[in-house]
Amino acid sequence: MVIIQVKNLKKVFKTHKREPGLGNALKSLVKRKYLVKTALKGISFEINKGEVVGFIGPNGAGKSTTVKALSGVLYPTSGDVNVLGYTPWKDRIKYVRNIGVVFGQKTQLWWDLPAIDSYYLNKQIYRIPSKEFKRRLNYMLKYLDLREVSKKPVRDCSLGERMKCEIVAALLHNPKLVFLDEASIGLDIIAKNLVRDFIIRQNQEQGTTFLITTHDMQEIERLCQRLIIINHGEIIYDGGIEHIKKRYLKKKLVHVKLETKKNNFSFKGVKVIKEKDYEIVLNLDTQISSVKDLVDYLLKNYNVADINISDPPIEEIIEKIYREKKRI
Ligand SMILES: Nc1ncnc2c1ncn2[C@@H]1O[C@H](COP(=O)(O)OP(=O)(O)OP(=O)(O)O)[C@@H](O)[C@H]1O
Ligand SMILES: [Mg+2]
Repeated sequence: MVIIQVKNLKKVFKTHKREPGLGNALKSLVKRKYLVKTALKGISFEINKGEVVGFIGPNGAGKSTTVKALSGVLYPTSGDVNVLGYTPWKDRIKYVRNIGVVFGQKTQLWWDLPAIDSYYLNKQIYRIPSKEFKRRLNYMLKYLDLREVSKKPVRDCSLGERMKCEIVAALLHNPKLVFLDEASIGLDIIAKNLVRDFIIRQNQEQGTTFLITTHDMQEIERLCQRLIIINHGEIIYDGGIEHIKKRYLKKKLVHVKLETKKNNFSFKGVKVIKEKDYEIVLNLDTQISSVKDLVDYLLKNYNVADINISDPPIEEIIEKIYREKKRI
């Protein structure tokens, strides 16, 4: 069942441009100059109930603008959006009861109040039945280790604590659909795992649909089956994550720390990026040699202190897809 339908969504921002200085400030009052930025160039996609979709792209690609239009806080320039039968920016009051939103850069909680007070306010706004509210609240606070944290003013919370509190606020009313825009900002690895497992549970048990924006490829890999990639306000990929992994995650970055120095590293399918003192950085093409072969070789021939294997950064992958698209 399709629950999000986006057709030719376009957003043009027109902002007032001003050169620095008082003279220019006065001049700009008389003769206004504008900067025009097309943040979304007419994007279209559909999302089905129960999907967990990763919505990724470099800085300024148009992710937050899309999430804002879908959650009803921004009027698009043109195009149609239908979410759960609503036009988000038109039917806002009725609509918001069905969705949850976290914007990493913006708090939805009352800054001077403890998070728990905001939750009780939301209970009224969303008309959550008392029994259901208490059950969900207790469960979430315990799960995310927020029982004490939720009692102190939000302004006194650390970034990670606040982000966990925001996630509770977004999910407390058990919405059918949740938008997470950089919701894992500031979370340590333990909190990231907790939140991730929580999302998976919510998705499996309640059938909640998630649209997730992040710069963390690992998070995407663990959570999402489908990816939508946006660049310069255009969708350049919409499909399974497996395809992207097969095609673009063939290269691995391998950082090696040595106990004793040794130079002139060479191995089939490996490009040496850095070789200095006790550190070697390699780029491995897994189609030529496997990770296992390389690690075996390293352990046998080098005095290894530490090995770290990672995927190339998400931006590099997007850049590649973008370049390939342009060539077509
Ligand atoms: N209110 C605004 N006024 C003018 N320009 C804006 C406004 N909001 C966003 N933009 C511009 O629109 C483009 C898309 O911004 P958006 O916030 O959607 O990017 P993003 O993909 O979320 O990036 P990031 O990864 O940095 O969060 C950017 O060039 C941005 O400067
Ligand atoms: Mg953004």
